[in-house]
Amino acid sequence: MHILEVENLTKTFKKVTAVDHVSFQVPEGELFGLLGPNGAGKTTTMRMLTTLLKPDSGSASVAGFDVIQSRNEVRAGIGMVFQEPALDRQLTGRENLDFHGRMYGMKKDLRKLRIREVLDLVELSDRANDLVETYSGGMQRRLEIARGLMHFPKVLFLDEPTLGLDAQTRRKIWEYIRRMNLEHRTTMILTTHYMEEADGLCGRVGIMDKGRIVALDTPKNLKDLIGADVVTLEMESGDGDIYRGLAFVKDVVKHGNRLSLMVENGERKIPLLIAHAAKHGIEVLSVELHKPSLEDVFLRFTGATLRDREAGDSEKRKMHPPMARRR
Ligand SMILES: Nc1ncnc2c1ncn2[C@@H]1O[C@H](COP(=O)(O)OP(=O)(O)OP(=O)(O)O)[C@@H](O)[C@H]1O
Ligand SMILES: [Mg+2]
Repeated sequence: MHILEVENLTKTFKKVTAVDHVSFQVPEGELFGLLGPNGAGKTTTMRMLTTLLKPDSGSASVAGFDVIQSRNEVRAGIGMVFQEPALDRQLTGRENLDFHGRMYGMKKDLRKLRIREVLDLVELSDRANDLVETYSGGMQRRLEIARGLMHFPKVLFLDEPTLGLDAQTRRKIWEYIRRMNLEHRTTMILTTHYMEEADGLCGRVGIMDKGRIVALDTPKNLKDLIGADVVTLEMESGDGDIYRGLAFVKDVVKHGNRLSLMVENGERKIPLLIAHAAKHGIEVLSVELHKPSLEDVFLRFTGATLRDREAGDSEKRKMHPPMARRR
Protein backbone atom coordinates (compact mmCIF):
# COMPACT_ATOMS: atom_id res chain seq x y z
CA MET A 1 0.00 0.00 0.00
CA HIS A 2 1.14 3.53 -0.73
CA ILE A 3 1.18 6.09 2.03
CA LEU A 4 -0.63 8.49 -0.28
CA GLU A 5 -3.18 7.36 -2.85
CA VAL A 6 -4.97 9.86 -5.03
CA GLU A 7 -7.61 8.75 -7.47
CA ASN A 8 -9.37 11.04 -9.94
CA LEU A 9 -9.44 13.93 -7.49
CA THR A 10 -11.53 16.78 -8.91
CA LYS A 11 -12.57 20.23 -7.72
CA THR A 12 -14.42 22.93 -9.62
CA PHE A 13 -14.91 26.52 -8.47
CA LYS A 14 -17.74 28.11 -10.46
CA LYS A 15 -16.28 28.02 -13.95
CA VAL A 16 -12.73 26.93 -13.19
CA THR A 17 -11.91 23.26 -12.82
CA ALA A 18 -8.97 23.82 -10.51
CA VAL A 19 -8.15 20.13 -10.16
CA ASP A 20 -9.23 17.79 -12.92
CA HIS A 21 -9.11 14.02 -12.35
CA VAL A 22 -5.72 13.99 -10.68
CA SER A 23 -4.35 10.56 -9.79
CA PHE A 24 -1.01 9.54 -8.31
CA GLN A 25 0.50 7.37 -5.59
CA VAL A 26 3.39 8.08 -3.28
CA PRO A 27 5.32 5.31 -1.50
CA GLU A 28 6.41 5.83 2.09
CA GLY A 29 9.57 7.89 2.46
CA GLU A 30 9.38 9.56 -0.94
CA LEU A 31 10.00 13.24 -1.53
CA PHE A 32 7.33 13.97 -4.10
CA GLY A 33 6.87 17.29 -5.89
CA LEU A 34 4.03 18.92 -7.76
CA LEU A 35 5.48 21.40 -10.24
CA GLY A 36 3.37 23.87 -12.13
CA PRO A 37 2.74 27.54 -12.92
CA ASN A 38 0.34 29.90 -11.07
CA GLY A 39 -3.17 28.56 -11.17
CA ALA A 40 -2.17 25.00 -12.12
CA GLY A 41 -4.12 23.61 -9.17
CA LYS A 42 -1.28 22.73 -6.80
CA THR A 43 -2.65 24.43 -3.69
CA THR A 44 -6.16 23.17 -4.35
CA THR A 45 -4.79 19.62 -4.58
CA MET A 46 -2.87 20.07 -1.34
CA ARG A 47 -5.91 21.49 0.44
CA MET A 48 -7.96 18.44 -0.51
CA LEU A 49 -5.22 16.02 0.54
CA THR A 50 -4.94 17.76 3.91
CA THR A 51 -8.74 17.72 4.47
CA LEU A 52 -9.08 21.52 4.31
CA LEU A 53 -11.23 21.33 1.21
CA LYS A 54 -13.77 18.73 0.16
CA PRO A 55 -13.29 17.24 -3.32
CA ASP A 56 -16.24 17.28 -5.75
CA SER A 57 -15.36 13.77 -6.82
CA GLY A 58 -12.58 11.24 -6.67
CA SER A 59 -10.82 10.03 -3.56
CA ALA A 60 -7.59 10.23 -1.65
CA SER A 61 -6.14 8.48 1.35
CA VAL A 62 -3.22 9.24 3.61
CA ALA A 63 -1.67 6.33 5.51
CA GLY A 64 -4.78 4.30 4.79
CA PHE A 65 -7.27 6.93 5.98
CA ASP A 66 -9.73 8.46 3.57
CA VAL A 67 -9.52 12.26 3.45
CA ILE A 68 -13.31 12.62 3.41
CA GLN A 69 -14.45 9.81 5.73
CA SER A 70 -11.64 10.01 8.26
CA ARG A 71 -10.61 13.63 8.46
CA ASN A 72 -9.43 13.51 12.06
CA GLU A 73 -7.23 10.47 11.56
CA VAL A 74 -5.73 12.05 8.46
CA ARG A 75 -5.06 15.29 10.28
CA ALA A 76 -3.42 13.54 13.21
CA GLY A 77 -0.94 11.89 10.88
CA ILE A 78 0.15 14.82 8.75
CA GLY A 79 1.99 18.10 9.05
CA MET A 80 1.28 21.12 6.90
CA VAL A 81 3.32 24.11 5.86
CA PHE A 82 1.03 26.27 3.78
CA GLN A 83 1.24 29.48 1.83
CA GLU A 84 -0.67 31.52 4.39
CA PRO A 85 1.49 32.22 7.42
CA ALA A 86 0.13 30.45 10.45
CA LEU A 87 2.48 31.52 13.22
CA ASP A 88 1.57 33.64 16.19
CA ARG A 89 3.89 36.60 15.83
CA GLN A 90 3.36 37.74 19.41
CA LEU A 91 4.76 34.49 20.77
CA THR A 92 8.32 33.25 20.76
CA GLY A 93 9.44 30.50 18.41
CA ARG A 94 9.50 28.04 21.30
CA GLU A 95 6.00 29.05 22.44
CA ASN A 96 4.63 28.54 18.94
CA LEU A 97 6.04 25.03 18.85
CA ASP A 98 4.85 24.25 22.35
CA PHE A 99 1.34 25.43 21.54
CA HIS A 100 1.30 23.24 18.47
CA GLY A 101 2.50 20.23 20.45
CA ARG A 102 -0.22 20.75 23.02
CA MET A 103 -2.87 20.90 20.30
CA TYR A 104 -1.67 17.48 19.21
CA GLY A 105 -1.88 16.16 22.75
CA MET A 106 1.86 15.73 23.21
CA LYS A 107 3.01 15.34 26.85
CA LYS A 108 5.22 18.04 28.36
CA ASP A 109 8.45 16.04 28.42
CA LEU A 110 8.02 14.87 24.86
CA ARG A 111 7.23 18.42 23.73
CA LYS A 112 10.39 19.71 25.35
CA LEU A 113 12.50 17.04 23.69
CA ARG A 114 10.91 17.46 20.30
CA ILE A 115 11.11 21.26 20.35
CA ARG A 116 14.84 20.97 20.88
CA GLU A 117 15.10 18.50 18.02
CA VAL A 118 13.11 20.44 15.43
CA LEU A 119 14.70 23.78 16.35
CA ASP A 120 18.05 22.14 15.92
CA LEU A 121 17.07 20.83 12.51
CA VAL A 122 16.15 24.26 11.16
CA GLU A 123 19.01 25.96 13.04
CA LEU A 124 16.84 28.26 15.13
CA SER A 125 17.86 27.10 18.60
CA ASP A 126 19.61 30.36 19.41
CA ARG A 127 16.53 32.42 18.48
CA ALA A 128 13.99 30.17 20.16
CA ASN A 129 13.16 32.66 22.91
CA ASP A 130 12.70 35.68 20.64
CA LEU A 131 9.31 36.85 19.47
CA VAL A 132 8.44 35.62 15.99
CA GLU A 133 7.77 39.19 14.90
CA THR A 134 11.50 39.81 15.18
CA TYR A 135 12.30 36.92 12.78
CA SER A 136 13.21 37.43 9.13
CA GLY A 137 10.97 35.94 6.45
CA GLY A 138 13.31 33.00 5.98
CA MET A 139 13.44 32.33 9.72
CA GLN A 140 9.67 32.35 9.93
CA ARG A 141 9.47 29.82 7.14
CA ARG A 142 12.00 27.64 8.91
CA LEU A 143 9.97 27.84 12.10
CA GLU A 144 6.87 26.83 10.17
CA ILE A 145 8.69 23.79 8.87
CA ALA A 146 9.78 22.95 12.41
CA ARG A 147 6.19 23.30 13.54
CA GLY A 148 4.96 21.07 10.73
CA LEU A 149 7.33 18.37 11.97
CA MET A 150 6.68 18.87 15.67
CA HIS A 151 4.16 16.04 16.16
CA PHE A 152 6.09 13.39 14.17
CA PRO A 153 3.83 13.43 11.10
CA LYS A 154 3.94 10.49 8.73
CA VAL A 155 3.51 12.83 5.81
CA LEU A 156 4.53 16.47 5.64
CA PHE A 157 2.77 18.67 3.08
CA LEU A 158 4.64 21.80 2.03
CA ASP A 159 2.97 24.28 -0.29
CA GLU A 160 5.67 26.39 -1.97
CA PRO A 161 8.00 26.23 1.03
CA THR A 162 10.53 28.58 -0.54
CA LEU A 163 8.26 31.09 -2.26
CA GLY A 164 9.59 34.62 -2.06
CA LEU A 165 12.82 33.67 -0.30
CA ASP A 166 16.29 34.59 -1.56
CA ALA A 167 18.41 31.95 -3.27
CA GLN A 168 20.59 31.29 -0.25
CA THR A 169 17.69 30.80 2.16
CA ARG A 170 15.98 28.63 -0.43
CA ARG A 171 18.97 26.32 -0.58
CA LYS A 172 19.05 26.11 3.23
CA ILE A 173 15.42 25.07 3.25
CA TRP A 174 16.09 22.42 0.62
CA GLU A 175 18.81 21.11 2.88
CA TYR A 176 16.43 20.76 5.86
CA ILE A 177 13.79 19.15 3.70
CA ARG A 178 16.29 16.70 2.29
CA ARG A 179 17.71 15.94 5.73
CA MET A 180 14.39 15.21 7.40
CA ASN A 181 13.35 13.13 4.44
CA LEU A 182 16.54 11.06 4.63
CA GLU A 183 17.10 10.87 8.37
CA HIS A 184 13.52 10.57 9.54
CA ARG A 185 12.04 8.89 6.46
CA THR A 186 9.22 11.42 6.60
CA THR A 187 7.24 11.27 3.38
CA MET A 188 7.03 14.74 1.87
CA ILE A 189 4.72 16.22 -0.64
CA LEU A 190 5.72 19.65 -1.80
CA THR A 191 4.60 22.07 -4.47
CA THR A 192 6.75 24.52 -6.30
CA HIS A 193 6.95 26.52 -9.44
CA TYR A 194 10.73 26.64 -9.30
CA MET A 195 11.98 24.09 -11.78
CA GLU A 196 15.39 23.75 -10.22
CA GLU A 197 13.72 23.02 -6.90
CA ALA A 198 11.65 20.20 -8.35
CA ASP A 199 14.66 18.91 -10.22
CA GLY A 200 17.25 19.01 -7.47
CA LEU A 201 15.09 18.07 -4.53
CA CYS A 202 12.32 15.68 -5.50
CA GLY A 203 12.53 11.95 -6.01
CA ARG A 204 9.62 12.13 -8.41
CA VAL A 205 7.78 15.07 -9.88
CA GLY A 206 4.24 15.44 -11.15
CA ILE A 207 4.01 18.27 -13.65
CA MET A 208 0.68 20.09 -13.35
CA ASP A 209 -1.01 22.34 -15.85
CA LYS A 210 -4.61 23.55 -15.85
CA GLY A 211 -5.67 21.16 -13.14
CA ARG A 212 -4.14 18.06 -14.67
CA ILE A 213 -0.98 16.09 -14.15
CA VAL A 214 0.54 16.05 -17.62
CA ALA A 215 3.67 14.02 -16.78
CA LEU A 216 4.96 12.19 -13.73
CA ASP A 217 8.30 10.51 -13.15
CA THR A 218 11.76 11.08 -11.71
CA PRO A 219 13.32 14.35 -12.90
CA LYS A 220 15.91 12.33 -14.78
CA ASN A 221 13.39 10.17 -16.61
CA LEU A 222 11.32 13.22 -17.45
CA LYS A 223 14.32 14.97 -18.93
CA ASP A 224 15.35 11.80 -20.75
CA LEU A 225 11.96 11.91 -22.47
CA ILE A 226 13.28 14.89 -24.38
CA GLY A 227 16.21 12.66 -25.27
CA ALA A 228 18.10 15.40 -27.03
CA ASP A 229 19.41 18.93 -26.77
CA VAL A 230 17.01 21.81 -27.00
CA VAL A 231 17.74 24.46 -29.60
CA THR A 232 15.54 27.51 -29.28
CA LEU A 233 15.31 29.76 -32.33
CA GLU A 234 13.86 33.22 -32.28
CA MET A 235 12.34 33.73 -35.74
CA GLU A 236 11.13 36.83 -37.52
CA SER A 237 8.12 34.89 -38.83
CA GLY A 238 6.86 31.47 -39.78
CA ASP A 239 5.96 28.41 -37.77
CA GLY A 240 7.58 25.12 -36.92
CA ASP A 241 6.31 23.25 -39.93
CA ILE A 242 9.42 23.89 -41.96
CA TYR A 243 11.37 21.78 -39.46
CA ARG A 244 8.99 18.91 -39.04
CA GLY A 245 10.23 17.05 -42.08
CA LEU A 246 13.88 17.02 -40.98
CA ALA A 247 14.95 13.57 -39.80
CA PHE A 248 17.21 14.81 -37.00
CA VAL A 249 14.53 17.01 -35.42
CA LYS A 250 12.73 14.87 -32.85
CA ASP A 251 10.11 17.39 -31.82
CA VAL A 252 9.13 20.99 -32.42
CA VAL A 253 7.26 23.26 -30.01
CA LYS A 254 6.25 26.78 -31.01
CA HIS A 255 5.81 29.40 -28.29
CA GLY A 256 5.36 33.02 -29.29
CA ASN A 257 7.93 33.87 -31.94
CA ARG A 258 10.21 31.12 -30.67
CA LEU A 259 10.63 27.54 -31.72
CA SER A 260 12.12 24.91 -29.45
CA LEU A 261 13.57 22.04 -31.43
CA MET A 262 14.63 18.79 -29.79
CA VAL A 263 17.73 17.64 -31.62
CA GLU A 264 20.68 15.41 -30.89
CA ASN A 265 24.14 16.99 -30.98
CA GLY A 266 22.44 20.35 -31.05
CA GLU A 267 25.61 22.40 -31.40
CA ARG A 268 26.43 20.68 -34.71
CA LYS A 269 22.94 21.13 -36.07
CA ILE A 270 22.61 24.87 -35.49
CA PRO A 271 24.16 25.86 -38.87
CA LEU A 272 21.84 23.43 -40.65
CA LEU A 273 18.81 24.80 -38.85
CA ILE A 274 19.68 28.38 -39.75
CA ALA A 275 20.37 27.43 -43.37
CA HIS A 276 17.08 25.57 -43.51
CA ALA A 277 15.20 28.66 -42.33
CA ALA A 278 17.05 30.80 -44.92
CA LYS A 279 15.99 28.35 -47.63
CA HIS A 280 12.40 29.16 -46.68
CA GLY A 281 13.15 32.88 -46.67
CA ILE A 282 12.93 33.14 -42.87
CA GLU A 283 15.49 34.99 -40.80
CA VAL A 284 16.65 33.56 -37.48
CA LEU A 285 17.12 36.39 -34.99
CA SER A 286 18.78 34.46 -32.19
CA VAL A 287 19.76 30.94 -31.19
CA GLU A 288 20.10 29.28 -27.80
CA LEU A 289 21.18 25.77 -26.96
CA HIS A 290 20.77 23.90 -23.70
CA LYS A 291 20.49 20.47 -22.17
CA PRO A 292 16.88 19.48 -21.39
CA SER A 293 15.38 20.85 -18.19
CA LEU A 294 12.00 20.29 -16.58
CA GLU A 295 10.96 23.52 -18.29
CA ASP A 296 11.42 21.73 -21.63
CA VAL A 297 9.38 18.83 -20.36
CA PHE A 298 6.62 21.25 -19.39
CA LEU A 299 6.87 22.87 -22.80
CA ARG A 300 6.72 19.56 -24.60
CA PHE A 301 3.61 18.42 -22.74
CA THR A 302 1.72 21.71 -22.68
CA GLY A 303 3.01 23.70 -25.65
CA ALA A 304 3.70 26.63 -23.35
CA THR A 305 6.51 27.74 -21.10
CA LEU A 306 5.91 28.10 -17.38
CA ARG A 307 6.45 31.82 -17.83
CA ASP A 308 3.92 32.07 -20.70
CA ARG A 309 1.37 30.45 -18.46
CA GLU A 310 2.03 32.75 -15.57
CA ALA A 311 2.04 35.87 -17.75
CA GLY A 312 -1.21 34.87 -19.46
CA ASP A 313 -2.90 34.39 -16.15
CA SER A 314 -3.86 37.95 -15.34
CA GLU A 315 -7.30 36.96 -14.04
CA LYS A 316 -5.91 34.44 -11.62
CA ARG A 317 -3.20 36.83 -10.58
CA LYS A 318 -5.82 39.23 -9.40
CA MET A 319 -7.20 36.50 -7.19
CA HIS A 320 -3.84 35.39 -5.88
CA PRO A 321 -1.52 38.37 -6.09
CA PRO A 322 1.98 36.94 -5.65
CA MET A 323 3.05 39.72 -3.30
CA ALA A 324 0.23 39.01 -0.92
CA ARG A 325 1.55 35.53 -0.36
CA ARG A 326 5.00 36.65 0.55
CA ARG A 327 5.92 36.98 4.11
N1 LIG B 1 -11.45 29.47 -3.31
C1 LIG B 1 -11.43 29.61 -4.64
N2 LIG B 1 -12.48 30.14 -5.30
C2 LIG B 1 -12.46 30.27 -6.65
N3 LIG B 1 -11.44 29.89 -7.44
C3 LIG B 1 -10.37 29.34 -6.84
C4 LIG B 1 -10.30 29.18 -5.42
N4 LIG B 1 -9.12 28.62 -5.10
C5 LIG B 1 -8.48 28.43 -6.29
N5 LIG B 1 -9.23 28.86 -7.32
C6 LIG B 1 -8.86 28.79 -8.75
O1 LIG B 1 -8.42 27.47 -9.03
C7 LIG B 1 -7.32 27.47 -9.89
C8 LIG B 1 -6.16 26.75 -9.24
O2 LIG B 1 -5.69 27.51 -8.14
P1 LIG B 1 -4.55 27.01 -7.15
O3 LIG B 1 -4.43 28.01 -6.07
O4 LIG B 1 -4.82 25.61 -6.76
O5 LIG B 1 -3.30 27.04 -8.11
P2 LIG B 1 -1.74 26.92 -7.73
O6 LIG B 1 -1.17 25.92 -8.68
O7 LIG B 1 -1.58 26.67 -6.30
O8 LIG B 1 -1.21 28.35 -8.12
P3 LIG B 1 -0.06 29.26 -7.41
O9 LIG B 1 1.24 28.82 -8.02
O10 LIG B 1 -0.42 30.64 -7.84
O11 LIG B 1 -0.13 29.07 -5.95
C9 LIG B 1 -7.04 28.92 -10.21
O12 LIG B 1 -7.67 29.22 -11.44
C10 LIG B 1 -7.67 29.67 -9.08
O13 LIG B 1 -8.07 30.95 -9.48
MG1 LIG C 1 -0.62 27.66 -4.83
